[in-house]
Amino acid sequence: MSHEFIPVNEPLLDGNEKKYLVECIDTGWISSEGPFVDRFEEGVARRLGRKYGVAVCNGSAALDAAIAALKLGPGDEVILPTLTIISCAAAIVRAGATPVVVDADPATWNMNVSQVSEKITSRTRAIMAVHTYGLPVDMAPILELADKHGLKVIEDAAELIGQTYNGRSCGSFGDISTLSFYPNKHLTTGEGGMILTDDAELAERCRSLRNLCFQEKRFVHKELGWNFRMSNLQAALGLAQLERLDEFLERKRQLGRNYDKFLNGIGELQLPLPATDYSENIYWVYGVVLRDELPFDAQFAMEQLTQHRVGTRPFFWPMHEQPVFRRMGLFGQLRCPVAERLGRRGFYLPSGLAISDSQQRRVADALKAVVARKH
Ligand SMILES: Cc1ncc(COP(=O)(O)O)c(C=O)c1O
Repeated sequence: MSHEFIPVNEPLLDGNEKKYLVECIDTGWISSEGPFVDRFEEGVARRLGRKYGVAVCNGSAALDAAIAALKLGPGDEVILPTLTIISCAAAIVRAGATPVVVDADPATWNMNVSQVSEKITSRTRAIMAVHTYGLPVDMAPILELADKHGLKVIEDAAELIGQTYNGRSCGSFGDISTLSFYPNKHLTTGEGGMILTDDAELAERCRSLRNLCFQEKRFVHKELGWNFRMSNLQAALGLAQLERLDEFLERKRQLGRNYDKFLNGIGELQLPLPATDYSENIYWVYGVVLRDELPFDAQFAMEQLTQHRVGTRPFFWPMHEQPVFRRMGLFGQLRCPVAERLGRRGFYLPSGLAISDSQQRRVADALKAVVARKH
């Protein structure tokens, strides 16, 4: 019998999403000028404990606008994790600034915060902390270093809306935070993102940058911006999703507990840490890392899982190993052994909100079969 394919992600859209979308169509408000945009911005900012939210067209654009709003540019260095999505380093490079990366932590898969201080030079202007997969970055040492050296903090909370660090919401740390609402996020607008800040001037700058830097005299510009606007349709979806964030977070935690139970005892796999001193995992995605005793890498395991009709995604590929950055002469001969290993041996399992317990069991059985193959 051939099984149905279990996708790596499937969102849940069965709350008020349809109702609010119909409202957009019935009222004719479909562009970024519609009322859902303000409501969504206010709702997210309130939920995460920020003063201002600026909705944009995706999480990558949010990072570009954040870097531009902080006026980072040529001669400035920004410290960030090497194990992250290209959007983080790309925003820095596009602004003409220099990305300086730190290795990953082998247990949490986040940036190794103990390596940040040794990367600080007289040119360092900012630290970009990126919460990865389910647990946040250990923010206290980052904030302390930033304070000591007068650095800006950009918090990329794209993956962890609803997560907390010592009880405080991710997305509320540092000068500026960013979010993504891509459908694999547990709050989606199809495509979308947001910038969050408590600084009125920064918020205003972000609003201007997302809207081509239009000024009082329309079509006369003193600065270059982008069209990074979010439409009313996207914000309508987002508002409906936001109403269910707590339910979604509980579902994510259950999903994590299920995989923990189903995969318990497979010594060849490193599973996500359920908690740290400062947070409980919310399993944005459920990652696994193949231990060194397995004679194959993530690529092989993922191909095998595809044959079992199970979707997966690899972990990020480190920034210092990206051909595009190497070609630009960035990172020199830098080695980050933990991130290099995670990039080769880590991947994640279907983790979307719509997955059923029985599908999770099938995923776990397929993974067990793949691990057992080479014994
Ligand atoms: C940590 C992180 N930052 C930024 C982004 C970019 O978001 P988007 O896909 O909305 O551009 C992602 C995307 O998944 C992400 O995981």
